[in-house]
Order: sequence, then structure tokens, then C-alpha cells
Amino acid sequence: MNPLRKVADRLLEMPIVYGTLQAPFAGNKLKPFLQRVDLSTVRRVLDVGCGPGTNARAFAGSDYVGIDINADYIATASARFKGRFVVGDVADETVLPNEKFDCVFANSLMHHLPDDVTSSLLARMARLVAPGGGVHVLDLVLPDGLSPARALARLDRGRHARPIAEWRRLFTQHLEERHLEVYPLGLPGIPLWWMVYFHGVPK
Ligand SMILES: C[S@@+](CC[C@H](N)C(=O)[O-])C[C@H]1O[C@@H](n2cnc3c(N)ncnc32)[C@H](O)[C@@H]1O
Repeated sequence: MNPLRKVADRLLEMPIVYGTLQAPFAGNKLKPFLQRVDLSTVRRVLDVGCGPGTNARAFAGSDYVGIDINADYIATASARFKGRFVVGDVADETVLPNEKFDCVFANSLMHHLPDDVTSSLLARMARLVAPGGGVHVLDLVLPDGLSPARALARLDRGRHARPIAEWRRLFTQHLEERHLEVYPLGLPGIPLWWMVYFHGVPK
């Protein structure tokens, strides 16, 4: 790997660096999800790939479980937010808690995972949905054509940003689609990233 890229990736693994860089966009990233889900009805939430607790504040009224592979992120999250935080690799098929959740959530995790792990993870997430609940995924789209958003998706430390058709194929292998939306993040009038929000229920 290019040495500059290696340094950038290592820096982003530090909670303070990641938290600072994503903060300006975190609120807008959650918008489509918050427009669709009434959080007052969410009693239990599982946040898969929770990072340093980016989304924990939004779920402050719920019984919250976060899981992430990065022990420093988990230490930061558990020092700052209420909830149960677990260090674990989602490629390990036994790592998710065997419990039910109204909201099984993953924000910007799956573009770090290859297709086979993403597919198996979505199947496992579907099994944890409580009656009436759902799976909610927000993730990075690889847009067609040349654009700043495509270049940034290619530069991301997650190597699996996908075209929208590829995301839909993965989501609908194990989940019935309730909603799918593509939306921009960035500066007014200048999309820097395209995101997908998917809401599904177990088939
Ligand atoms: C772009 S960050 C998103 C963090 C957080 N969800 C957010 O919204 O800011 C991707 C997260 O996925 C985590 N991650 C990557 N691969 C993982 C794996 N195999 N198992 C668990 N977490 C993983 C990273 O440590 C990182 O916290």
C-alpha cells in the first residue's frame, strides 16, 4: 500500500482524528434514517461498526449496544456514552449478541467489508430483528462517471464502496426492501460523497 495512504489510514483509526473529520457531516448522514424512524419507538438498538460512538447520541433514549473492531474507538465510546460497547470483528460469525433489537443499524461499515462478509453479516443482522423492527444501513456509494465524489469514494480507507445496483443486490439477498434512497453529502451544491440508506425487514 502507498505509504502516505497507510499513514492516513492509521491516523483515521485514532478516535480524535476520525471524530473531528466526520463531525461536520455526521448529522446530515443520519437525516434520511431520522426522517423515517421515530426513535421514541426504538427500545433496543444494535449499532454494528459503531466507531467512537458517532451515532450513540441519536440513540440516547434507547437501550444501546455498539460493536466495533477498533478497541480505541470502543474505549472512547464507552467513556462518553451510555450503553454496552463490545470489541469484535463482524467477520466472526459468533460476535453479534444473540438478542433481539428493534433497530439493527450499521452506518458506514459495509464499505470496509468484502461481499462475502457483507452478505453473511446482513443475514445475521436480519435474524436479530425484533417483531416490528428493521435493519437500517447507511453506506458509501461508488458513483458512475468521473466526479469528485467518485475520486473520494476510491480514496476512502474502506475499499468496498459499491455502485447502487451492487448495494441493492446485497441488501435484498436476506432482507425485504422497505425503502432505499441515494443522497448526497458535502457542501451546498457540491456532492463530495453519495450515500445509500436502506431500510429492510427479515424475509
Ligand atoms: C467509517 S467508520 C464508521 C463508524 C461509525 N459507524 C460512524 O457512523 O461514524 C467504519 C467503522 O467500521 C469499523 N470496522 C471495520 N471493519 C470492521 C469489522 N470487521 N468488524 C467490526 N468493525 C469494523 C471500523 O473500526 C470503523 O469504526
